[in-house]
Order: sequence, then C-alpha cells, then structure tokens
Amino acid sequence: MGKIILTGDRPTGRLHLGHFVGSLRRRVELQNSGEFEKIFIMIADAQALTDNFDNPEKVRQNIIEVALDYLSCGLDPEKSTIFIQSQVAELCELAFYYMNLVTVQRLQRNPTVKTEIQLRGFSENTAEGDTTQRQGIPVGFFTYPISQASDITAFRATTVPAGADQEPMIEQAREIVHKFNSTYGETLVEPSILLPTNSACMRLPGTDGKAKMSKSLGNCIYLSDTPKEVKQKVMSMYTDPDHLRIEDPGKVEGNCVFTYLDAFCRDEHFEKYLPDYKNLDEMKDHYRRGGLGDVKCKKLLIAVLE
Ligand code: TRP
Repeated sequence: MGKIILTGDRPTGRLHLGHFVGSLRRRVELQNSGEFEKIFIMIADAQALTDNFDNPEKVRQNIIEVALDYLSCGLDPEKSTIFIQSQVAELCELAFYYMNLVTVQRLQRNPTVKTEIQLRGFSENTAEGDTTQRQGIPVGFFTYPISQASDITAFRATTVPAGADQEPMIEQAREIVHKFNSTYGETLVEPSILLPTNSACMRLPGTDGKAKMSKSLGNCIYLSDTPKEVKQKVMSMYTDPDHLRIEDPGKVEGNCVFTYLDAFCRDEHFEKYLPDYKNLDEMKDHYRRGGLGDVKCKKLLIAVLE
C-alpha cells in the first residue's frame, strides 16, 4: 500500500514566513516528490474552535485566507486534496467512538494539552475573582487530541508532517490505533510523524529578533503582505546592535537579516541581485570584517523574499 499524508493548520490567522519555513515549503516538496499516493491538507476549523469558541467569525474568515496562502506557496489542488475539517462530518462521528478508548488521565498527561492549557489561560483551579484566567478547561479543547486522531486515521494516513510540538498528538493517535485494532480487529493504519529535517527549517525568529515569529508579538511577515509591507518590515528588522558604522565589524549570529538569508537565499540570487558576492558565505565574511552596511543586506533580502 502506498504512503498517505495528512496534515493541516488551524485557521486562526494568516500564514507567515515562519509557517513557510517550518512546514509549507516542505509540504510542497513532499507533494512534488511523487513519493506519496495521496496527500490531504486539512484546514482544521473545528479544531480552531476548541480554543476560539467565542470567535467563530475569526475562524470563518481565516479559512479562505489559509487556503489562499496554501495556493500561493505552490500546494496544487491537482496533487493535494485541500479540505475543510468541519465539512467532513464523519470526523466528529469517529472521534465520538474513539472517546471510549482514551482515559481522562491519559489526556491530562498529554504534554501538548498541558502547555496549551497554560498558554491559552484555561486554568484548572481558578481562584475566585481572578479575571486573568478563563474559567476552566472546555471539554472540547481537552479532547482535541482524540479529534486529531480521527482526522489522521480516517484518511488512513501513514505520514503526518508536523513540528515537534505535535509529537504527543501523533503518539496519542498511535495509542488509539493500537487500542482500536486490538479490541475490534485490525482496521486502522498506524501513523508516524515526519519532523522537519534541518534545524534552520524549524524556527524562524521574528523581525524583532525574538525567538519566534508570532502574531501576538507583531513580528511577522505574512505571505499575503504586499511588496511595500515586506520592504518596510525588512528595513526595520533587528540586525547587530553593535554594528553602528559601516566600517565596524558585524555579527551574523543572531542577526535576523542573515538568519532569513540563511533560510531563503540561494547562490543564484547573488548573480541576479548582488553580483559583488558569489554566495552567502562570502557576504557574511565581508560583514564580519566590516565595510558592509545593513541596508545593502536588507535590499538583497527584500529581493529574495519577493
Ligand atoms: N494541531 C494542528 C495545529 O495546531 C492542526 C491539526 C489538526 C493537524 N488536525 C491535524 C495537524 C492532523 C496534523 C494532523 O497546527
């Protein structure tokens, strides 16, 4: 039997370069590798509601945004089936049956659920009068690993490309598969996670140099940004705070412009946009020595990103 991919995103906002580097670019490669019999890319709107139940309009609007972002990256509907989770009602049905196979205690031990409870301000024992915490943990949120197992197994997925944060989710799905198969007979396919390959691929810092590109930090470059917005954001990007004059030696480590160039720039870009250098290593050496200004580096990055 051929290999089948299922993966997806919660439509809670437009996708940004962090998503592109962390997952979208890889998906397009996998799609075009010809290695997979089928590829399903799911817009997880029902899952998005588990922690946005009070904002359905946001989720609804972002379904189309995420779909457009997918297409703009090169996900091709001829090769990959892009679908909306809530439109496949059987996924809920299946999750309902899976609920009998998972204990409350097991869900409580799921590390992703644990961290997300904190992250989203769902508290287990909210002190009276504490308005910073939302009241309690919604059952739908608590059980979303079960729903995710149903997304994966319903399509007989063998392969789930996802970040390390999703590992406990896939582990949960595998446990459900074992339990189901041993109780009712061999039926379900056991999935495995496909983690990003190189470390540069995993996390892109925000334009402010903070560890992560994130909507709440306001440090994102969105796939849907106009050329003008991209230019503005790159021009105000965090570089090396000690690189004051062009002649000063500069640091490329922790310098966003170079981190982004590492992620996006290829040798042929130099020929096209900055023939002073043959490749990024040459340019980095010059920056380290001193004599190369930030603006020149930023202009290259803008050209590459466009
Ligand atoms: N949990 C994933 C996220 O937060 C989205 C998702 C839902 C998913 N169902 C999935 C990912 C199935 C992989 C497989 O981004």
